[in-house]
Amino acid sequence: MRISVIGTGYVGTVSAACFAELGHEVVCVDIDRAKINQINSGVPPIYEEGLSELLRKHAGKRLSATSDYDNAVKRTDISFICVGTPSDSSGNIDLSIVKAASASLGEALKKKKDYHVIVVKSTVVPETTEKVVLPIIERHSGKTTKDFGIAMNPEFLREGKAVHDFMHPDKIVVGSLDTKSGDIVASLYSGIECEITRTNPRTAEMIKYANNSFLATKISFSNEIGNICKELGINTYQVMSAVGRDFRIGPHFLNAGAGFGGSCFPKDVKALIGKAKEIGYEPLLLNSVIAVNEGQPLRMVKLLKNKLGNLKGKKVAVLVLAFKNDTDDIRESRSIPVIKELLDNGAKVSAYDPMANENMRKLFGGIEYYKSATDALRGADACLIMTEWDEFKSLDKEFEVMKQNIIIDGRHMLTPKKDIEYVGLCW
Ligand code: UGA
Repeated sequence: MRISVIGTGYVGTVSAACFAELGHEVVCVDIDRAKINQINSGVPPIYEEGLSELLRKHAGKRLSATSDYDNAVKRTDISFICVGTPSDSSGNIDLSIVKAASASLGEALKKKKDYHVIVVKSTVVPETTEKVVLPIIERHSGKTTKDFGIAMNPEFLREGKAVHDFMHPDKIVVGSLDTKSGDIVASLYSGIECEITRTNPRTAEMIKYANNSFLATKISFSNEIGNICKELGINTYQVMSAVGRDFRIGPHFLNAGAGFGGSCFPKDVKALIGKAKEIGYEPLLLNSVIAVNEGQPLRMVKLLKNKLGNLKGKKVAVLVLAFKNDTDDIRESRSIPVIKELLDNGAKVSAYDPMANENMRKLFGGIEYYKSATDALRGADACLIMTEWDEFKSLDKEFEVMKQNIIIDGRHMLTPKKDIEYVGLCW
C-alpha cells in the first residue's frame, strides 16, 4: 500500500519508518524543511531506539519526505494525520494543528480523482474525527464520504520504545465510519501478529484516552497509597509489589514517586476532563488523578525543608531532568515544578542530566548545569533524585563530594548507604 504520513513528530516518524519496514511505500509530509531534509538523508529528527537503523535502511527507497501535500496525496492511497494535539491555556485540547492538516488534506483531495482514505492517528478527544476532521475535509475537497474514507487509528507507543511497541503491539484499534475504509486501514497491519479491534471512530478515540487515563490513575493511586505509607513507616514498594501479584491488578505502573510527566498522560487526562465537562459531567476521579500528581513534586521539597529548614542560599543538586529515563524530553517533567519551588524558596540549584541539560536550560537559564553527577553534587547541601535512569542506581562514592549527605529519592532508585541520610518520597 502507498501511505502518506502528515507530521514528523515521534508518532509520525516512527509510524512512517515502521510502515516502510512492513513493506509499504511511505511519504512523510511536514512544513518543516529541516526535518524533511533529515528524513530524506536517513537521519531521524528525534531520538528513538531503533529508528535511525530503520531510516537508514528505507530512506531514498521505500521512504521519502516532502512538504508538498498535493503530490503526497496524489501518490498515495491513504493519509495518516500524526500532528500534535497540545493543551490550550485552560488544559483543554488544542485542535488547531489537526484542523490545519485536515484543511490541507481536503485541498489536496479536491485535485485527486481516485478513492483515498484519511486516518486520524493524533490523540483527539471523542467525536473529533466525525465532528471536526470530517466536515473540514468535506468542505475543502467538495467531496463526500462516498469519494473518500475516514478512520481513527490511535497509537499506544511509549516514547523511547516506540519502534518496539509499533512492531509488537498488544492491541491495534481501527475505528471507521464504513467497512471499506476500516478494511483498508486494518490491511496495513497484516504483517503484524495482533488481533485488531474494529470500532466506530469515537470509540477508538475513547479507547486511547481510557488507556492513558487508567495508567495515570494507577500511578496516582500508587502515589496516594505511598503518601499514607510514608506517614505510617511502611515501605509502599513492598505493599504494591504484593498487590500487583493479583492477576486482576497486574504489576505494572504501580511505582510510587514523583509522579507522571511527559507529553501524554498529563495532557490526555486534562483533555478528557475538559471533554467530560463540556458534556456536563464532573469527572471526580480524573480530577483527583491530576491533583495527586501535581502534589508529588512539592512533597519532595517539603521533605527537603523538614531536613534543611530554610532553603535560602542552600545548594540543592537536582539529578536527572527528563520526564523519564533514556530521553531528552522534559515536557511536564516533574523536575520542572521542583526546580521552580526550590528557586522560589531561595535555593541555589545545580543540575545534571545525561541528555536533557540543554532542553532544561531553555526553561531555567539561571541555574548551573553540569556534565556529570559528581560535578552537580560537589558542595551540595542535599540532592533530589527525579528520574529513574539505570546509570544512577549505582551512584555511591559520587555523594562523598557533597557538603551534607541528604538524598531525597523521588523514584525508589538508590539503595541506602551508610553515612547518607536517605529519604524516600513514599517509603
Ligand atoms: C505513554 C503511554 O505509556 C503510551 O502507551 C502512550 O502511547 C503514550 O503515553 C502516548 O499517549 O503517546 P510515555 O508518555 O512515553 O507513554 O511514557 P510512560 O513510559 O508511560 O511514562 C509516563 C510517566 O509515568 C513517566 O513520567 C514515568 O516516570 C511515570 N511513571 C510510570 C510513574 O511515575 N510510575 C510508574 O509506575 C510508571
